[in-house]
Amino acid sequence: MPDFSKLPVHVGIIMDGNGRWAKRRGLPRKMGHKVGAETFRTIVRYANRIGLKYLTMYVFSTENWSRPQDEVDAIMTLLRNYLKDVDNYRSENIQIRFLGDLSVFDEDMQRKMAEIQETSKDNTGLKLNLAVNYGGSSELTMAAAKLAADAVKGLLKPEEITQQDLADRLYTSGEPDVDLIIRPSGEYRLSNFLIWQSAYAEYVFMDEILWPDFKPADLDRALEEYQSRNRRFGGI
Ligand code: FPP
Repeated sequence: MPDFSKLPVHVGIIMDGNGRWAKRRGLPRKMGHKVGAETFRTIVRYANRIGLKYLTMYVFSTENWSRPQDEVDAIMTLLRNYLKDVDNYRSENIQIRFLGDLSVFDEDMQRKMAEIQETSKDNTGLKLNLAVNYGGSSELTMAAAKLAADAVKGLLKPEEITQQDLADRLYTSGEPDVDLIIRPSGEYRLSNFLIWQSAYAEYVFMDEILWPDFKPADLDRALEEYQSRNRRFGGI
């Protein structure tokens, strides 16, 4: 069991392996995403219960639009269903934030996301980030453009730009960097996820498990592994 009094502050999860999970069962890929969305709810609820402070879940990347249309549609339907499920997080005291370029989503979805962010902003439980249409490189590009615009307006001088100035313009502004990134399914990549925020993150890759099968006990194992690491942040 991990020591729940010494949890990492910010955990990120790349929910990988839905497609393979379905394929192994002779099911369409979208079934993997459907079960994956249930796993998502279970893990979010558990993370909140154990007192985790920040959890960022990689739901949909800027690159995922290139998947077959019916798969994209299936993930969007799951996202819509989750957005509709307002009561779930109200009773759970979770604060929800969406990371990504939301302007590509249908207007009703954008409205719903804004409403959820607004109505959950004073909740004191888990701070849950949902990365949707998210890409780390586009996030950094967007932050650079904001810095440039602010410099043009005379709000800051280019030679005085600090790391904090850039961090303040990311989708995650005001949040601590990520301490631990978990990726099941045997892929050893970051896939454009939180590339700035994970500069000193620990990585736990869990080869043997696909996301739809991921259980609270697997999160515990990843947290234990994290706690066994010696983080030096470039020092000795
Ligand atoms: C990666 O598995 C998973 C995704 C690209 C989508 C993640 C989406 C969900 C878990 C469901 C939606 C969640 C919410 C909150 C509504 P993959 O398809 O790349 O798997 P594969 O590598 O086995 O093909």
